[in-house]
Amino acid sequence: MGKEKGVKEIEDLPGVGPTTAEKLRDAGYSTLEKIATSSPHELSELSGMSVDNAKKAVEAARQATTLEYTSASDVYSARKALGRITTGSKDLNELLGGGAEVKAITEAYGRFGSGKSQLGFQLSVNAQLPRDKGGLEGTVLFIDTEGTFRPERIESMAESAGLDPTAVLDNIFVIRAENTEQQILSIERADKLIREKNVRLIVVDSLMALFRSEFMGRGALGERQQKLNSHIHRLQSLADSHSLAVYITNQVMDNPAILFGDPTTPVGGNIIAHAATTRLYMRKSKEDKRIVRLVDSPNMPEGEAVIKITESGIKD
Ligand code: GTP
Ligand code: MG
Repeated sequence: MGKEKGVKEIEDLPGVGPTTAEKLRDAGYSTLEKIATSSPHELSELSGMSVDNAKKAVEAARQATTLEYTSASDVYSARKALGRITTGSKDLNELLGGGAEVKAITEAYGRFGSGKSQLGFQLSVNAQLPRDKGGLEGTVLFIDTEGTFRPERIESMAESAGLDPTAVLDNIFVIRAENTEQQILSIERADKLIREKNVRLIVVDSLMALFRSEFMGRGALGERQQKLNSHIHRLQSLADSHSLAVYITNQVMDNPAILFGDPTTPVGGNIIAHAATTRLYMRKSKEDKRIVRLVDSPNMPEGEAVIKITESGIKD
């Protein structure tokens, strides 16, 4: 129901003072809807107001109670928004079809300083926002494999998002994984935490760093890919069974096979390429700008967004 001209209660209607309002209420005419559907004569009789005044009151009540229609497409976008976490940038949200999606793995790869971790921090804050602000009203499991988690960044981003920084920090459960065993276990054992704490986002920053340093050389590649495969499938299965979003960051290398154009390639090979639902390639631009390229997505066209990394977080 609409609220036109500040008419919210029957006292707000023209010609209806406290005494008339009381009489109307006593007679069961206590809402604007009830008045809007009454006849002026009826009202005049039971309240003692003139028929003319009653007409004006009914008319005002009608105007104040117009039904608001929501188009099916608005309902559709609202529904879609329920399953996504805003990135803080409209441009990037659009590129992604609304933000980082639940039941999916969103991967960001790029060189150092390209903003992969910053995006992870921003999503960790935004996952806690109310749903109508682009959040999931949930908590976050953050696996830090490089020792680069920065609570002070979370604090500034939370303040800028209008959230209580202490509460936001309390709702991010950080595991500092020092080796692949710990990284794998942190996901193997996440079920209980997810259920008890309403975890809606898992961040792994970064997915490959420990795997790369522990499994060196060609001989170790098979074992590495096997462990990686089961790790990432476990992430996908948590995403599916708990309707949560997974965000992973990934390192890059120069692919010697690419002679022309940008040789930057994410590491981890086909296993990650196949497992990641959505792949983003981030690169530095001028000053605080970063270019984010959508490389792979199940339902969005390839394209680019420009974001800014500012003191208060990721912005347009
Ligand atoms: P690696 O983990 O090294 O591969 O890089 P990354 O892609 O994770 O980089 P990260 O997300 O940590 O981005 C770091 C960059 O973010 C810095 O070089 C800064 O440009 C920017 N940044 C970080 N903190 C701030 C801040 O408080 N204010 C502003 N304006 N920029 C910041
Ligand atoms: Mg980083």
